[in-house]
Amino acid sequence: MAESVAIYEVGPRDGLQNEARVISVAEKVALIDLLTRSGVAALEVGAFVSPKWVPQMADTAEVLAAMSWEHDCRTSVLVPNMRGWEGFRATGAPVSEIAVFISASEGFSRANLNCSIAESLERLAPVVVAAVEAGVELRGYISCVTDCPYDGPVAPEAVVEAVRGLQGLSRMPVSLGDTIGAGRPETVRAMLEAVLEVLPADRLAGHFHDTGGRALGNIEVALGMGLRVFDSSVAGLGGCPYAPGAPGNVATEAVVERVEALGFATGVDGGVLAEAGAVARRMRSG
Ligand code: HMG
Ligand code: MG
Repeated sequence: MAESVAIYEVGPRDGLQNEARVISVAEKVALIDLLTRSGVAALEVGAFVSPKWVPQMADTAEVLAAMSWEHDCRTSVLVPNMRGWEGFRATGAPVSEIAVFISASEGFSRANLNCSIAESLERLAPVVVAAVEAGVELRGYISCVTDCPYDGPVAPEAVVEAVRGLQGLSRMPVSLGDTIGAGRPETVRAMLEAVLEVLPADRLAGHFHDTGGRALGNIEVALGMGLRVFDSSVAGLGGCPYAPGAPGNVATEAVVERVEALGFATGVDGGVLAEAGAVARRMRSG
């Protein structure tokens, strides 16, 4: 039997957060409901971040209230601080896990979270305690694992330090973000070699934006080094509002095609994914 690769679909969050047009709750829910039936292993549906910082995610509570929960797809939402945790808990939604996020570079930490890396970890500490107490699982993100739009190239040691910081809060799995898609096979390999010294491949995911058109090649490098979870956005939606010039994540359709061609099973239903892709493209074009 073919070995599995898990697709962690982030389009409704990482994709839509960068759309300038106001997208209605109904449109988001239509996309989310399709994606929960597409066979992806997990789906990030929104973010409890400040609406002043990311207006597009301001309606995440309404999305959680309106979406269907008649599926067995794992779900997640981003939570940056206690305010976000409280907003999430008030919904009572049966979300599988929350995602907390830090940066490996100080410049991006400032731009995205308005604080240093050390301060971001301090801010997350009570969130992690609350999630563990509530029995909600955690996922950690580290941004700028090879390059930062403000600080330039990022040393593998900085990523290791960030991994240690998150593991110091809890033994959560970590998604390694090439936020601006500037990673190259050699920089991704060097970063992963260092990170694998402190966290095994089965606790890691790859999160590649596709600015440089190298995301699929970088995924192949990560696959070769044992990673089996990859984040992607349907129709390549997305970017990060605090990473200038970063376009979308690598497209889910392209990741599924590539990893299946390499002999892995994803469990994704191409027909449902294509339907979701058509909905996503209509959302993007407005
Ligand atoms: P701040 O301005 O330093 O925080 O932002 P603050 O505590 O001073 O709050 C400012 C205002 O926001 C206050 O309102 C707070 O109440 C409110 P005011 O008193 O002025 O009316 N506020 C909130 N409202 C709702 N929910 C909250 C919340 N927190 C504060 N949770 C903060 C600090 C962390 C809030 C802000 O910097 C923020 O929201 N940042 C998130 C930015 C973001 O979402 N970026 C995109 C996601 S990360 C990403 O895309 C990377 C990733 O894909 C991986 C990769 O590609 O690398 C994951
Ligand atoms: Mg991202």
